[in-house]
Amino acid sequence: MKDLISIQDFSKDEVLKILDTARRMESFSEPVLKGKIMATLFFEPSTRTRLSFESAMLRLGGQVLGFSTPSATSFSKGESLSDAARMIEKYCDIMVVRNPVDGSVKEIADASSVPVINAGDGSNEHPTQSLTDLYSMMKSHGRIDGLSIAMVGDLKYGRTVHSLAKALSYFKCKVYFVSPKELMLPAEYAAGLDYEHVTEISKVIGKVDILYMTRMQKERFGSENYEALRDSFVVTKELIKEAKPDMKIFHPLPRINEIDKEIDNTRHAYYFEEAANGVPVRKALLGHILGVF
Ligand code: CP
Repeated sequence: MKDLISIQDFSKDEVLKILDTARRMESFSEPVLKGKIMATLFFEPSTRTRLSFESAMLRLGGQVLGFSTPSATSFSKGESLSDAARMIEKYCDIMVVRNPVDGSVKEIADASSVPVINAGDGSNEHPTQSLTDLYSMMKSHGRIDGLSIAMVGDLKYGRTVHSLAKALSYFKCKVYFVSPKELMLPAEYAAGLDYEHVTEISKVIGKVDILYMTRMQKERFGSENYEALRDSFVVTKELIKEAKPDMKIFHPLPRINEIDKEIDNTRHAYYFEEAANGVPVRKALLGHILGVF
């Protein structure tokens, strides 16, 4: 029973175990979490993360409670995260929390005696998206070691990129960070990686196995000019003409305009399958943390 705040709270062996269990979870629906309750505390909008966690818990026989906006809770009256955590831990066996403030999910975990999973804290990390991304790489390419991966877009504020970069430090990959200079990856997230910074997708499109697109995180921008940056990278059929035949395009979603819809029906599109992979991965994760796998 442990928290998952940063992807590196798990060792490489634990990550590999979850990926292996996720494979088994694709067709597994035994009620191994019957009697367990998961609380989803979402202070920010979500479609995939919250619903795939809830689906995973329900498919394993557990139950869910929670909120998807803090405006209907006593947080709107000024209650602190740590006070609330001390109550909510009595109502559930595990919490899944998304909050717009970096470090806030750790604050809840520190005040709670039940395990807490970070479903995204500000621009810091989103570790369960990374487990889904790694699992998607295993499914699409059969391996993680040896892959060339370009991460594209808002690498400064994009928490999925931060967690994925940390996760890839467990493997032997070549990573290209493709961003405008205003939105470069903070160096701390690239520790242990073999990487290069580049400014154009066209420079690397013929080399990569995975093109990991992200949206501009408009809601987290400081002095950056969204209108000037929003169209920095758009994947089109013309752009991917030089891609390897088995190159796959990933995106944590939601997409705004980074991937032209004409890509959706090509062999390169993998983003909707990636989102679907979130269910078996989160089944494996819940079972792992709650001690049944
Ligand atoms: N990938 C992801 O975090 O999507 P949601 O914001 O819809 O949960």
